[in-house]
Amino acid sequence: MNKRKLGQIEVSEIGMGCMGLSHGYGQIPSEGYSIEAVRKAIDYGCTFFDTAEAYGPNLLPENRGHNEKILAKAFDGIPRDTIVIATKLHLPITEVKATSVYDTVKAHLAASMERLRVSEVDLYYLHRINPEVPVEDVADAMGRLCKEGLIRGWGLSQVTVDTIDRAHRVYPLSAIQNIYSMVERGIEEEVIPYCLDNDIGVVPFSPIASGFLSGKVTTQTEFEKNDDVRHFVPQLTKENIAANQPILDVIREFAEKKCATNAQISLAWMLHKYPNVVPIPGSKNQERILENLGASEVELTDEEFEKLQTALDACEVHGHRGFDEAEGRSFLNRKRG
Ligand SMILES: NC(=O)c1ccc[n+]([C@@H]2O[C@H](COP(=O)([O-])OP(=O)(O)OC[C@H]3O[C@@H](n4cnc5c(N)ncnc54)[C@H](OP(=O)(O)O)[C@@H]3O)[C@@H](O)[C@H]2O)c1
Repeated sequence: MNKRKLGQIEVSEIGMGCMGLSHGYGQIPSEGYSIEAVRKAIDYGCTFFDTAEAYGPNLLPENRGHNEKILAKAFDGIPRDTIVIATKLHLPITEVKATSVYDTVKAHLAASMERLRVSEVDLYYLHRINPEVPVEDVADAMGRLCKEGLIRGWGLSQVTVDTIDRAHRVYPLSAIQNIYSMVERGIEEEVIPYCLDNDIGVVPFSPIASGFLSGKVTTQTEFEKNDDVRHFVPQLTKENIAANQPILDVIREFAEKKCATNAQISLAWMLHKYPNVVPIPGSKNQERILENLGASEVELTDEEFEKLQTALDACEVHGHRGFDEAEGRSFLNRKRG
């Protein structure tokens, strides 16, 4: 698969979002199936794996690291320098007050490294801004950890350009991980241009809009009762699935022309659009994981891209997830709307 750079870190141009193997999309697969899924992705040429300390069933504290432990088992026997591991931490203010930002970040990193069974994490993100902790202090701590050789690069998730700039001035960022897809294009305005100018990679999460853009979710789809974030994704209310059908019609037309799937077109679109974007689609299904990685083989010509972009621009998007960095809370806490 083609490679891209997140700062100085080289990765396959499509990564694997591993969250769904532990949390967020209902019933999780067996550990054996998940390990096999990761190994199939590696065999396909994927070198970039996205996890977080928080990814465990229902995000419960006692399940912390569930996803990282699966990855450790999947990577067993795989040469360490062929895999790029990205993980994330949250910064609880109680811990920061009891010690320091640096000590708190280092303690969380040590726990992640133990679960991942590695001596260095390639890319370490702050999962959400904590408004009580200045991002400059986080940047300083991450810089120290880079110099100590415990991480190769660092990143922020769900952040505005102002926060990115404040952090980047203290210690250079490798990547930003924000929500981005054909129906969540907010970061095109400021965040992506800033990242392009400053050699920062952009790692879109939920690039298939939590499944909507695949066209496989319909108004008849029942989401699962337990641990299923799709109940809170605004584009996935029954009304908005129906109202957003024109977007799927556009994608389907291009998918047919290119002998590709909808999901692949949605990924090929962003790969064509920006050279610093590395999407991390997530799936619990081995076939779909490979399908999504296969988007790297779907080349849009400039003309096709322009047509697709123009057709998308003409569609109204119903439902917007976005984020509210100032309140430092994840979309899970937001009301549907
Ligand atoms: N930084 C953050 O705060 C943050 C937040 C959310 C996610 N993430 C990361 O980003 C990754 C991706 O985000 P995401 O999983 O929320 O969203 P996503 O990749 O946009 O969508 C995942 C959903 O789409 C379905 N899907 C995926 N590929 C498909 C295909 N080819 N055909 C049909 N359906 C398909 C999956 O169903 P099946 O499983 O049934 O295939 C799942 O329900 C996560 O794994 C995680 O690593 C980060």
